[in-house]
Amino acid sequence: MFNSVLSFNPDEIKSNPVAPQVQVESVVYSNPKNTEKAEHTIKAVNVTTTTLPYDQNRVTFNYVGLHFVNPAQNKYAYMLENYDKDWIQAQTQRSVTYNNLAPGSYIFKVKAANSDGVWNNKGATYRIIIESPWWSRWWAWVLYIVVFGSAVYGFIAYRSRRLIAHNKILEERIAIRTHQLSEANEELHSKQDEITSQRDQLAEAFDDLKAAQKQLIQSEKMASLGELTAGIAHEIQNPLNFVNNFSEVSVELLEELTEEAKAGHNGDVIAIAGNLTQNLQKIQHHGKRADAIVKGMLQHSLTTSGHKEPTDLNLLANEYLRLAYHGMRAKDKSFSAELVTDFDEKLSKVNAVPQDIGRVMLNVFNNAFYVVNQKAKTARPEYKPTVEVRIAQQNGSALITVKDNGSGIPDSIKDKIMQPFFTTKPTGEGTGLGLSLSYDIVVKGHGGDIKIESVEGEGSEFIISLPNN
Ligand SMILES: Nc1ncnc2c1ncn2[C@@H]1O[C@H](COP(=O)(O)OP(=O)(O)O)[C@@H](O)[C@H]1O
Ligand SMILES: [Mg+2]
Repeated sequence: MFNSVLSFNPDEIKSNPVAPQVQVESVVYSNPKNTEKAEHTIKAVNVTTTTLPYDQNRVTFNYVGLHFVNPAQNKYAYMLENYDKDWIQAQTQRSVTYNNLAPGSYIFKVKAANSDGVWNNKGATYRIIIESPWWSRWWAWVLYIVVFGSAVYGFIAYRSRRLIAHNKILEERIAIRTHQLSEANEELHSKQDEITSQRDQLAEAFDDLKAAQKQLIQSEKMASLGELTAGIAHEIQNPLNFVNNFSEVSVELLEELTEEAKAGHNGDVIAIAGNLTQNLQKIQHHGKRADAIVKGMLQHSLTTSGHKEPTDLNLLANEYLRLAYHGMRAKDKSFSAELVTDFDEKLSKVNAVPQDIGRVMLNVFNNAFYVVNQKAKTARPEYKPTVEVRIAQQNGSALITVKDNGSGIPDSIKDKIMQPFFTTKPTGEGTGLGLSLSYDIVVKGHGGDIKIESVEGEGSEFIISLPNN
């Protein structure tokens, strides 16, 4: 007898210790978007890898465990590497479907256990590669890059060509503008030069004019001085005659005086000495007169000092009237005229520049003598050339009125006779400056006025007024 106890635990009895063989039977794939479900089946005999296009990405794996005992009770577990995180217990289910697998490489692993739970861990594998669509392959990317790069390059090249062309146009425009501007500038410069030279010419012309005016004024002075000289010569002649006569007589008287002194006739000596004294006084008087005349002439030719002083208009008018008259006669022996003077002996002295007022008088007198003389040459014999000079005080002004019975002033030139250089006299006889200078002296220099009244054919009247309060 066996003395041993045989214990038996039915649970420990593995009635089926052999693990089942497992294999992937087939792989079915289709396009999940295709409703017609055009399926393709690969019999997985001796095939372990399948590559599928990107759109054939619904994949079903059919697998089977081979076991001789109760194969229907086999259990399975599977995992799609790169997709499932872990093994998935499929129990007795023998297929699994993956919808929409992304492009990539997957390894389908499946293992099986027999009805007693003995696992075949080795299992079976099947590799599925879902291809990328062509447009996401590397060469497609290269193509994209190339195409994009070319496009960018083309665009840049196009833009830069456009820019260059545009720049060229701009440059041309700028060049044209610049050219135009520089031309305009040159023109401006030349205009400016022209203007400058014209201005210089004008300035020169102005200077010339001033010089000419100065010269003309001087020649007017000289002309009137010329007229004066003749009068002066005549004036000086008179006192000189006195001086000569009295000195001759004095020489004789001295001889007589010597005789009477030798004879001892004291009474006669004293009488002769008295005569001599009288003679010498007369000589002195006439010498002084001649001296005054010469001084007056010098004053006339000098430029005026512009210094106003109390001036006796009666004396001044008398002096210049005589000078003008004799000057006229010296030039034209046939000249003669009646002089009518009406002086106001009570007239107070006028504050004036004597040389200047003298010059005004001389010109007005000369003008008057000139017209009456001209008229006398053509008028009937009964014509009596007459010049009247009146001096009077009237309402705060001293009036010097010079009236002639000459030809008068035609209306057409009345407005012009005061203008400088206006003259109706032949060249050499008039400068046309007398009245304009007179106007300046009277109006601007003395605050006075010159009025002209004239009737053509009958005569003229020049009324010079000077303020005199
Ligand atoms: N008393 C006058 N009678 C007529 N005309 C005169 C008289 N005084 C001046 N005139 C006119 O006025 C002009 C200008 O005179 P004036 O300025 O003194 O210059 P000028 O005596 O050198 O001609 C004279 O040429 C003359 O035509
Ligand atoms: Mg004159």
